[in-house]
Amino acid sequence: MASRPIPTSVDTVIVGNGPSALILSYVLHGNIPYYNPAKPHPDPILHTKLSPSCCLLNINIPDLTAHFAASRLSYSTQALPVNVLLDTLLRPLADTDPEGYASCVEWRLEEDRKVRHLVLGNTAQAGGQWADNPVSASWDIGTLSYSEMLSLPGYTFDDHYRKTHGGPVPDFYRPPRGEVAAYLATYPSVVGIADSIYTNEEVQDISRVDDGFHIGSHNISCKNLVLASGTFSNLIPPRPLLRPLNALPQPNHTSEAPLLVVGSGFTAADVIIFTLPTRKIIHIFKWDPEDHPSPLRACHPRAYPEYAGVYRRMKLAAQDAQGPQGTTSAMRTKKANPFFKERNWDQVYEGLPNTCIKNVELYDGSALLTLETANGNSIQRKISNIEYVIGRRGSLSYLDESIARDIGALEDQIPINKALISGHTLRPKVEQSLEVALNVFVTGSLTGDSLIRFAYGGCVFAAREIMRPSGSRSGTSSSTPSASSESLSTAPSSQLDLQLPTQGAVISAGGHSDLNLDKKARAYASDQEIGKCDMWPEPW
Ligand SMILES: Cc1cc2nc3c(=O)[nH]c(=O)nc-3n(C[C@H](O)[C@H](O)[C@H](O)COP(=O)(O)OP(=O)(O)OC[C@H]3O[C@@H](n4cnc5c(N)ncnc54)[C@H](O)[C@@H]3O)c2cc1C
Ligand SMILES: *[C@@H]1O[C@H](CO)[C@@H](O)[C@H](O)[C@H]1NC(C)=O
Ligand SMILES: *[C@@H]1O[C@H](CO)[C@@H](O)[C@H](O)[C@H]1NC(C)=O
Repeated sequence: MASRPIPTSVDTVIVGNGPSALILSYVLHGNIPYYNPAKPHPDPILHTKLSPSCCLLNINIPDLTAHFAASRLSYSTQALPVNVLLDTLLRPLADTDPEGYASCVEWRLEEDRKVRHLVLGNTAQAGGQWADNPVSASWDIGTLSYSEMLSLPGYTFDDHYRKTHGGPVPDFYRPPRGEVAAYLATYPSVVGIADSIYTNEEVQDISRVDDGFHIGSHNISCKNLVLASGTFSNLIPPRPLLRPLNALPQPNHTSEAPLLVVGSGFTAADVIIFTLPTRKIIHIFKWDPEDHPSPLRACHPRAYPEYAGVYRRMKLAAQDAQGPQGTTSAMRTKKANPFFKERNWDQVYEGLPNTCIKNVELYDGSALLTLETANGNSIQRKISNIEYVIGRRGSLSYLDESIARDIGALEDQIPINKALISGHTLRPKVEQSLEVALNVFVTGSLTGDSLIRFAYGGCVFAAREIMRPSGSRSGTSSSTPSASSESLSTAPSSQLDLQLPTQGAVISAGGHSDLNLDKKARAYASDQEIGKCDMWPEPW
């Protein structure tokens, strides 16, 4: 399809075309959220304050969320209050009583409130990181969230599923990644916002000018800038010693020597799960259950059998590394789930906790690695491919230094084009206000609340400010105080491969504590295992 010309002067430019950009575009098209008193929220305080019918772009956020911390309805204390508010209005008690309450939000089209805007994203189709597939693990991976947590306004995932499958979404459905990508790709045309959405556009070179911003790469002028570029576009690169391994071929089914997987999070697990059951795997991972538990630990075997299975193998490997402990054989024979049985783990999987790659020799499309194990032994292993998946980061290199400094993205002395942006980078600013500098807004995973269900609040906040008649804007004073500020943890600076590379501004190894809020999984597994883990060190 020939690319459409892009207008050169608009009110608002949104960088990125992931879920949060799409939600915001829906609102800026004049779809205004209202509280629907006919579907009262189970929290009487919210219901009283929002009745009889209230436009959710005119709400006083601190007033509506002040009681959350003390409420018996157990609201999240990790996500931003405005994100928790919109989430609970859209899906009341979703975590504890999934079928009990209808959405309290009604979207009304008000043409006169439309705002001229552009959504510019670098992926081939709308959907942001869902449209990308940076590792060999495939489109078949099930999402972590249940499908109703992945819906955008105006056309739910269930609507999409009915259209494509001819029936409703099954209970407790975690769709394959590819199905979510297809849903997001088709969303703009179904809800009528495609006119503003541009794909394959790499935004660069944004600077502040007298009356707003100039987008150098596209010669566009705008008054408001929305950063919706996410924190997952780049895999954290290997440290210099390991870079030659990039020359190894992509993993494929014919490779002979083992595949090396480095990483302890979901992406590493995805790679293992989607490797042929007969292929040998060497798995190097960080094992620090006290201070930096793998996010896989919180996966209950019934809700997430594959992830729990990989975690069990990691745990066994860690116990083996410490010498015979007695519990091991019991764990080995513990009733295995179907996923587990299809692989002869003792033969194909070698887990190496806290192991460091000391030397790399490449020859003939394979590599000989010298490794130092947790107990200091030196061993050698031959591999034919590597998947280095210790986490992902975003980049704000499309901003000039002065905007980057204004919004608090330049704490360290690292230039913005080298800085690796995590959910923690902008968090301190975001907790003050989602307007991180005059007329600059942040949405989506960049706010530090990465789940789609928590993207609505930031979008409603940005839309409210953007739609305010100019003159009644109060600059950056509208604050969104957070119910709690997470403590940031920094990776210790040893040279284990599981830790973050020292080049680039790696802000923190923590994050994604919000994931444990998909508590429907807990209801399903009906015990307390899920959600115990408050730290999700390198989930993706
Ligand atoms: C592997 C994985 C699995 C996940 N699973 C779930 C899940 O099950 N449930 C859930 O709720 N969330 C999940 N998430 C969290 C994820 O943050 C959200 O689903 C969602 O994608 C966040 O949307 P966003 O709007 O922040 O933008 P993103 O989806 O992060 O998209 C931002 C886009 O902006 C693009 N971009 C960056 N810079 C530029 C530029 N200069 N010019 C143009 N475009 C640019 C990026 O390439 C990217 O495509 C997952 C994340 C990952 C990585
Ligand atoms: C950029 O756009 C302005 C009008 O908005 C135009 O005058 C100028 O020539 C354009 N510059 C380039 C390099 O295209
Ligand atoms: C698969 O991997 C092997 C060895 O690693 C390589 O020789 C071969 O070219 C690869 N095949 C494809 C289709 O990439």
